[in-house]
Amino acid sequence: MKIDFGIDFGTTNSACVGILDGKRAIRYTDGYTAPFPSLVIIDKLTGEVLSGREAWNKRQQLSESCEVFSSIKSWLGENIQWNLGGKVWTPEMIAAEIFKGLVKQVSDKSGDGLIQSAVVAVPVDFSAEKRQALRYAAKTAGITITSFVSESTAAIFHNFDKVKSYSKVAVFDWGGGTLDISILENNKGSIREVSVGNEMLGGDDIDSKLARWAHNQIERANPRGVSFEDMPASFRDRLIAQCETAKRDLSVMDLVDVRLNKYGDYGPVKVAIDNDTFTALIEPEVLRAMDCMNATLEQAKINFDNLGCILLVGGSINLRPFIERVEQEWNCHKIFPDASEWSVAYGAAELSLTEGSYIMSESVGVILSDGGFYPIIKNGESMRGNEFTASFALVEDSDTANLIFANENGKILGYAHVPSFGFFKEQIDITVSLDQDMVIHFKAKSKNRSDKYHVLWSYPGPKMTYKLPDSSIEVITDAS
Ligand SMILES: Nc1ncnc2c1ncn2[C@@H]1O[C@H](COP(=O)(O)OP(=O)(O)OP(=O)(O)O)[C@@H](O)[C@H]1O
Ligand SMILES: [Mg+2]
Repeated sequence: MKIDFGIDFGTTNSACVGILDGKRAIRYTDGYTAPFPSLVIIDKLTGEVLSGREAWNKRQQLSESCEVFSSIKSWLGENIQWNLGGKVWTPEMIAAEIFKGLVKQVSDKSGDGLIQSAVVAVPVDFSAEKRQALRYAAKTAGITITSFVSESTAAIFHNFDKVKSYSKVAVFDWGGGTLDISILENNKGSIREVSVGNEMLGGDDIDSKLARWAHNQIERANPRGVSFEDMPASFRDRLIAQCETAKRDLSVMDLVDVRLNKYGDYGPVKVAIDNDTFTALIEPEVLRAMDCMNATLEQAKINFDNLGCILLVGGSINLRPFIERVEQEWNCHKIFPDASEWSVAYGAAELSLTEGSYIMSESVGVILSDGGFYPIIKNGESMRGNEFTASFALVEDSDTANLIFANENGKILGYAHVPSFGFFKEQIDITVSLDQDMVIHFKAKSKNRSDKYHVLWSYPGPKMTYKLPDSSIEVITDAS
C-alpha cells in the first residue's frame, strides 16, 4: 500500500496524517484524539528520554530530576546545547525525539509501514537555518522531508469543502509558538498564496505572561523578595504548565484557580483569576494578532468586505478575549472547523500527493536605479530544479552594487551589497536556485570579479500556487 504522509510539527502538538493509496486519509494517534504532545523530557543524570503523552503525564513528577523541553521548535536553528546524562543535546536532537514518537505511532498501527518521507508544514518565514535543522531532526528519525509548506496554507486543503465557494480566503492559524496567516485565492481548485503574515506570538507567550502575573500575586500575598526569573526552573515550569491549563479553562469558565502543592519557598499556592482580569492582561497580545491580520490583508490589497471568509485554526484561537473581539470587529464569514488541530497535517498529507507541481505565485526581483521593478523570478513560473542567471549593468560610479530585492507589490524583501569595480555598465550576474528546503538562493557577483567576491541572499518560503488533488479523499476512522 502506498502512503503519503503529512506532518504538522507544532510547538505544542505534532500531528501525522497518512493518505492510503491516494484515497483514504487516516490520522495517527496514541489512543487519544489529540495529536502527539511536542514535549520531550530528559533525565539530567541518566539521559533517559520520554516524549509525547508519556512525557506529558510525568511532567510534574519528573520536573526536578529532568530537563523539560516543552517548545523545542522555537529553539531550532539556534546555536545552543544542553549537557544531560553525559551527552550533549542540540535542539535538532531533541526535535528528533518527537519525530521518533510519530514514527512509532505509525509503526504501531499494524500493516501501515514506516514513514520514510513526508511533507512537513512550517511557519510562514521559517528561516533557512530552521528548515535545515528540522530536516536533520526528521532524518535522524528516518524521515526524509520531501517538501515544506506553510502551516496556514496547508490548513485550507482539508477544509476546502467549507471555503470553496469563496474566491478569497484567509487562514488564521494561531498556535503555541507562532501566528501564521495566509491570504489565498481560490481558482477552481488551484490555491494561490496572495500574501502571508507571521508573528512570533503564540500560546506560550500568554502562558509565560500569566505565570509572571500569578507569581507577582503570590509574592504580594506572601513576600519573599524572589522574582519569577529567580525561581528554580522546575518551579517556573510547573507554574507555567498550571497557567496553561487555567488559560484553557478560562475559554469556558469565568473564574479559575492556578494551584501548586509546592512552589519553592512559598509552599502550597493558589491564585484565582477571572475572565475580566485575563482579558485585560492579554489585550496587547490579542491586538498584536489582530494587527498582523490587518497588515497581511493590506499587503494583499484587500479588506474584510471583499474577503470571502476566514478559516480559524490552531489552539490559541480558542482564547475567549480573542473570539469576542473578532466577532465584533471582523465582519466577514468566520469558520471554526472541527478537529482543527489536525487540519495542518491533513493539508500537508494532501499536498504530498501533488508534491512537485508547485508554481511561484509572486514575482521576486530587484528595484532598478530608476525605481522600476525587474522580476528575476516571475509569477506563474515553476521553480523546481531550475537554476538560471540574470544579468544587470551598473549605472553608478561606485565600488558596490547595491541590490534591493522586492516582490511585485514593491515590498522590500532584502538587500545585497555586491563588490564591483564601479565602471559604467559593469555586468552584475545574479544566479538563482531553489533548494530542497523551498528556499530561493540568489548569488550575485560582478562578472569581472573572482568567485570569492560573490554575495548571497536567501528568500525562505516564497509564495506558491498549489493544485488540489483530483479525487476527493475519504477521511476514515482514526488509527490508534
Ligand atoms: N481552549 C483553549 N484556550 C486557549 N488556548 C488554548 C486552548 N486550547 C489550546 N490552547 C493553546 O493552543 C496552543 C496549541 O495550539 P496548536 O496545537 O495549534 O499549536 P502548535 O501547532 O503546536 O504550535 P505552532 O503552530 O505555533 O508551532 C497552546 O498554547 C495551547 O495552550
Ligand atoms: Mg500549528
